[in-house]
Amino acid sequence: MSFPTVRHRRLRGSAALRSMVKETRLAVQDLIYPIFVTHGTGIKEEIPSMPGVYHWSLDRLRAEIDEVAALGIPGILLFGVPETKDACGSSAYDDNGIVQQATRLIKEWQPELLIIADTCLCQFTDTGHCGVVKHNPLTGHADIDNDESLELLAKTAVSQARAGADIIAPSNMMDGYVQAIRQALDEAGFSGVPIMAYSVKYASAFYGPFRDAAHSTPQFGDRKTYQMDPANVREALREAESDVIEGADFLMVKPALAYLDVLRAVRDNFDLPLVAYNVSAEYSMVKAAAQNGWINEEAIVMETLLGMKRAGADIILTYHAKDAARWLGAGK
Ligand code: PBG
Repeated sequence: MSFPTVRHRRLRGSAALRSMVKETRLAVQDLIYPIFVTHGTGIKEEIPSMPGVYHWSLDRLRAEIDEVAALGIPGILLFGVPETKDACGSSAYDDNGIVQQATRLIKEWQPELLIIADTCLCQFTDTGHCGVVKHNPLTGHADIDNDESLELLAKTAVSQARAGADIIAPSNMMDGYVQAIRQALDEAGFSGVPIMAYSVKYASAFYGPFRDAAHSTPQFGDRKTYQMDPANVREALREAESDVIEGADFLMVKPALAYLDVLRAVRDNFDLPLVAYNVSAEYSMVKAAAQNGWINEEAIVMETLLGMKRAGADIILTYHAKDAARWLGAGK
């Protein structure tokens, strides 16, 4: 009788053995939780397409922040849903804007919790675009004016840092945005505030529920002139490279699930900490299937997040963060 020389099953024989040879581990320290803040009082309003995710007014926010901190989640990503919008998104860089107010409060409540400010204009402009819309006389079309938008984004970042944001996370996909924001932060005395660049951000249908939540659907056209074509991966490396040169401290790939190859490519080519953004529709799809009883939510979420780490992510931005922290045994 001949026996198989190699037996892979030997190392799968018990939970202890499987744990010993595990190559990738997920930890609560890897997670960042996004939070939507809004004006008004008494508001804790569930986002219909994102069950379990809420709009919070500042007077109701404390319990949520304390819960995140108690779970050991190291950071939150703040999205502002402002009261007013205008052509140049001025409530984004108002020192009394919703994100700035929330930041100051959260810093008082939980000084150790890292506040990451999403730096973009799309929730704040009446066009719903991530920059300033200008008529381009050369093409005869409305266009997003890159360089003019940079000034406003830099002002936004400085205002967020002034309010106490620990990390600036620009998601606007304008060219030169990291450089513009880095210079403005340095000039304002915030040379120690890191930039988490949304380096590789695709023009994706997976942001649909977020746009409902943030009221940031473009009022005309789409974001394809600034966000990337889902078909491209070499271009992702060029985007990441320019952010590295311009002084980014973290790189990000977004969305995550349909782009695990891109995460791997960026991981293999750059040494900066790498963030995967497990975006809104990735969350909503899991929630919908779970609500129908079609999947085991915990198993699906943990396998998905592990897949993102295995693909090369160090950090995962996810609406599942609180649940995942609980499933990891945090806060017990
Ligand atoms: C702002 C921004 C978006 C998301 C994060 N920051 C929306 C967009 O680019 O349209 C999407 C997040 C998600 O879908 O969870 N530019």
